[in-house]
Amino acid sequence: MKITMWHAQSTGNRNQAQRRVARTQVVALPAAGDKGVPEEVRRKAAQEILGELDRLVGLQEVKELIGEIHAFAEIQRRRLKENLITRPLVLHMVFNGNPGTGKTTVARFIGRLFKEMGTLSKGHLVEVERADLVGEYIGHTAQKTREQVRRALGGILFIDEAYSLARGGDKDFGKEAIDALVKGMEDHRDNLILVLAGYREEMEWFIESNPGLRSRFPIHLSFPDYNVGQLIEIAELFLKERQYELTAGAREELRLTLERETRKHEHSGNARLVRNLIERAIRRQAVRLVGSTNSHRSELLTLTREDISRGSGGRDWGV
Ligand SMILES: Nc1ncnc2c1ncn2[C@@H]1O[C@H](COP(=O)(O)OP(=O)(O)O)[C@@H](O)[C@H]1O
Ligand SMILES: [Mg+2]
Repeated sequence: MKITMWHAQSTGNRNQAQRRVARTQVVALPAAGDKGVPEEVRRKAAQEILGELDRLVGLQEVKELIGEIHAFAEIQRRRLKENLITRPLVLHMVFNGNPGTGKTTVARFIGRLFKEMGTLSKGHLVEVERADLVGEYIGHTAQKTREQVRRALGGILFIDEAYSLARGGDKDFGKEAIDALVKGMEDHRDNLILVLAGYREEMEWFIESNPGLRSRFPIHLSFPDYNVGQLIEIAELFLKERQYELTAGAREELRLTLERETRKHEHSGNARLVRNLIERAIRRQAVRLVGSTNSHRSELLTLTREDISRGSGGRDWGV
């Protein structure tokens, strides 16, 4: 990862920047499409993204680490200006956590941030799983994996449940996918970040049993389950975004439901549950109101206890 690229773009002095490239091999060439974006604009955009990230509920450790990476990149840029030695950053990451704990959401933020910082040329997220990488005959896997790497160039290749690549042992094609990924990381180290995501224990086993991966993924982030208070905060965010409000009874019902659900399932302290619950309540409100010919603004805004409550024979939330 060539964090110092930012400087090469921002000086506006291409010759000077290019001489530096030749001399140190540290500065990556400016990314296509990013030419001429003033440094001030980039810096402001990066700050805005960090602000948005900060507004996510919880995830303190994740926020701090991203803050550190951002600061490091900025200081590398200033050091380069002073002709001090700069070091490339290795930014491949492992995300440990249960489903619905914010892993994909955070990966998307990181992509956007690194684009503004000039670390990635595009900053998009390509999310894949085992079936997108592993093929059916010899050679097919390497080809499929290379294709995904190609799609992710300039951004983040996010591999969900990455441990499943090692599931079948040495004879399994998953091994071929891992080898092709490692090759892709080496070939495109200036402009691709890999994120391996999955349940903590499985990921620890996966990384430990693949020494080639351990050294290449220096950043490990933990995504803990949310507690009920945090899930309610997440619900409030969803509601605000969609312009809905809860009555006092609905809020109470939401808390009771979340408490019940988090006790019931092992991995239910997650935000997807909340989203599904709120989206279902929104549909129920729609059904409740659609019959009357005109609804008050306040009715259109409000979700009631009945909209939230699961009721008898309610469907599962698909988490
Ligand atoms: N900390 C958070 N604050 C607000 N919303 C969140 C938070 N974490 C997750 N979400 C929301 O929950 C949903 C599931 O999150 P996601 O990132 O897909 O989880 P994962 O990838 O770990 O399964 C998304 O809609 C996301 O916007
Ligand atoms: Mg995900």
